[in-house]
Amino acid sequence: MLATMGALGLAPTAEAASREPVFHAPRTGDFTLTGRGAARVVVVGGGIAGLTVAYELGKAGYDCTVLEARERTGGRSLTVRGGDSTTDLYGNRQTARFSDGQYLNAGPARIPQWMVTMDYCRELGVPLEVFTNVNANAYLYNEKAGMTAPVRYRTAKADVYGYVAELLAKATGAGSLDADLTADDRERLLEFLKSFGDIGATLSYDGSTRRGYRVDPGASGTPGAELGPVPSASEVFASGVGRYFSFEFGYEQAMLMFQPVGGMDRIPAALTRAVGGHRIRTGAVVQRITDTARGVTIAYTRGGTVRAIDADYCVAALPPNILARTGHNLGAEVQTALEACAPSSAGKIGLEYRSRWWESDHRIYGGITETDLDLGHVWYPSYGHHGRRGVIVGYYNTGAASDAYARRSPREREERAVAQGVKIHGAKYRDELAASFSHHWRQTPYLEASWHSMAGGPDAPVFGPLNRPAGHVYFAGDHLSYADAWQHGAFTSARKVVTALHTRVLA
Ligand code: ALA
Repeated sequence: MLATMGALGLAPTAEAASREPVFHAPRTGDFTLTGRGAARVVVVGGGIAGLTVAYELGKAGYDCTVLEARERTGGRSLTVRGGDSTTDLYGNRQTARFSDGQYLNAGPARIPQWMVTMDYCRELGVPLEVFTNVNANAYLYNEKAGMTAPVRYRTAKADVYGYVAELLAKATGAGSLDADLTADDRERLLEFLKSFGDIGATLSYDGSTRRGYRVDPGASGTPGAELGPVPSASEVFASGVGRYFSFEFGYEQAMLMFQPVGGMDRIPAALTRAVGGHRIRTGAVVQRITDTARGVTIAYTRGGTVRAIDADYCVAALPPNILARTGHNLGAEVQTALEACAPSSAGKIGLEYRSRWWESDHRIYGGITETDLDLGHVWYPSYGHHGRRGVIVGYYNTGAASDAYARRSPREREERAVAQGVKIHGAKYRDELAASFSHHWRQTPYLEASWHSMAGGPDAPVFGPLNRPAGHVYFAGDHLSYADAWQHGAFTSARKVVTALHTRVLA
């Protein structure tokens, strides 16, 4: 019957149902006949994990209150638009001067199809569009490897695949693989290599239309002029361009990827609406979490006043590095676990341009240019194609490179990012610039981390105390998942805690 209902779109198909783990959201009906009622829960932290806990528990009528230290919900799921202001821990205050419709996703910015984030977008009615994570027309630029001009992905791939195919064909012909492959296998391998590297019957690579054209093919009489000259195998390997190709194979980064139309914060905004504004207190900085014999007491300050709230349970969904500095009586093992969650750094700069020269001049519509500069990655916008303006992510870097940019003033960050980007894109990268806004997560109050490095993974013994309740206090966040640095990690961690807490309340 289920299979038939699935075929009619009335129930998950076997394919969908087989995806583990299945989450059953709490329902008011769960309390029927148990004689029990929904509990009072204080959620500390209004990021994706905290909002999801309140949202899912709210479905069964739990009385949830979310305490959020910042003036807005969403945590790292931050979209910066014109007029938005931030102050970092160095005291740099910035106000974004982006024009209408332009934005920077300063935190999460791409969603793989398999992640639970997609399910929440469907459930909450958040419209999606494709996020272009890979673009054959985007560039690769390795200055440290001696490159003096960028090369397009398609060109680099044609050359690397071409030479790899040629070398493997040679090894096959020379008998180097005879011990591993039968004669039939070798024949099939050669067939594959011919198409993989475009090496033709000669089995040698000497360029390919896959590299691209100097003059594009057009009408009769215009066959196009292939891009040349073809570098040697040695030059191609020395340039290091091949090191970026594996990125798009990753389970988390493979196309297609998606983004909410209008900015990533459409997700926390929808969650916030669903939870209900009256349940959320922003500007509420938690000072102490006390587990008591009967429940919890949370002391916090808001608007200069010290307040306290009692509840049956608490879900601590704030960054572990922040909780480690917050008063609590949850024990030394919890404290050791919190201190073992090592905060990481990442930053981005949004550069708004007066024209979309990357589309008109470079024929780049979305995607990413990879560099070995301290910029890390340069992202072209996946929205607003052929519009008047657009925001490029001028750097998306991590670790020491991010911290070094953070130590500069916003103006100096822009100057350096632009000077670097000019090397790849030319003078318009400077001349067409209209506004910039930079954001660094390690230097963001109440977060102080882009994500966390969890030595040994979230199930390592040291993190055990965070994977179970400490009295009436539960812990949630992407750091307690195998998708750290993804909203999916926050969603799945929240679901796990919701299931555990609801099961306990029903027991
Ligand atoms: N999930 C983050 C990204 O895709 C780290 O860049």
